[in-house]
Amino acid sequence: MGKPKVFLTRELPSPVMAFLKEHTELSYNAEDRVLKKQEIIEGVQGKAGLISLVTDTIDREVIEAAPDLKVISNYAVGFNNIDVEAATEHNIAVTNTPGVLTETTADLAWALLMTVARRVVEGDVYTRSGQWENWAPQLFLGSDVHGATLGIVGMGRIGQAVARRARGFEMDVLYYSRTRLPLEQERSLNAEYVTKEELLQRADYISIHVPYTEGTHHFIGERELKLMKETAYLINTARGPIVDEKALVHALEHGVIAGAGLDVYEREPQLEPGLKDLSNVVLLPHIGSASVKTRTNMGMMAAQNVLAVLTGRPCENVVNQ
Ligand code: DGY
Repeated sequence: MGKPKVFLTRELPSPVMAFLKEHTELSYNAEDRVLKKQEIIEGVQGKAGLISLVTDTIDREVIEAAPDLKVISNYAVGFNNIDVEAATEHNIAVTNTPGVLTETTADLAWALLMTVARRVVEGDVYTRSGQWENWAPQLFLGSDVHGATLGIVGMGRIGQAVARRARGFEMDVLYYSRTRLPLEQERSLNAEYVTKEELLQRADYISIHVPYTEGTHHFIGERELKLMKETAYLINTARGPIVDEKALVHALEHGVIAGAGLDVYEREPQLEPGLKDLSNVVLLPHIGSASVKTRTNMGMMAAQNVLAVLTGRPCENVVNQ
């Protein structure tokens, strides 16, 4: 049996490319850009495997135009860019890359939290632009992180990794999740299970770690923002549409909440009008998992997922079985 035919929508780190070239008959987009839907449809013709990214919309049209496809391996833990129902109907396995990016994404949630609370970006711009004249008692006063209350929405792998880091800052940790953790795990994370409303009302920092589904669309909207403290901050490293961005901009403009740290957006890479003009928000370009090591590990996992499915080996990362 020859090597399986695989299409990759964009070049991945070099160890992953070497592995894929050795083990598959690989075609890929070597240009550093997102492919158009028609280009993905053309690329996937005659291929048994597709490795896709969060920027690729793999909808019913793409799936139905790819009769030889057996597996769609997403280079991400989230897979809301894929029509899983259509894939399942066509007996196509969909896989993701859980676990390998947990700690790296939790690190970035913390980086955003610290940055917005202590006004790091504003201070950097001020210092490098030569505006700094002297030490001043009221220069860039921010909010304390240590001893504050952290609210975690979604206590899966990443939510738990964020909670573990709060220990070093002696924070109280609240969480709201679809399923409650066993008591022992709650105790070891020092986390208190509360209702969504209680979390919104009590937390000084709220960090989102739920997947994006129909049920989590605009999970944080005008009502939720109003329930938050005026001094509280919202951190989103999960998926943009979980937060109603229009309502968020309004809340940030009118002091409904103190600030936000965002790595993801409703219509990436577009920003909601007004967002970039606010000084109380820190904006990153969806880089939660972007460390050299993690992006390589994600690629190796995505490649292994394709090979496992295509060679009939068990694959624990299939999300539609
Ligand atoms: C994921 O894995 O879902 C990330 O958003 C991609 O970096």
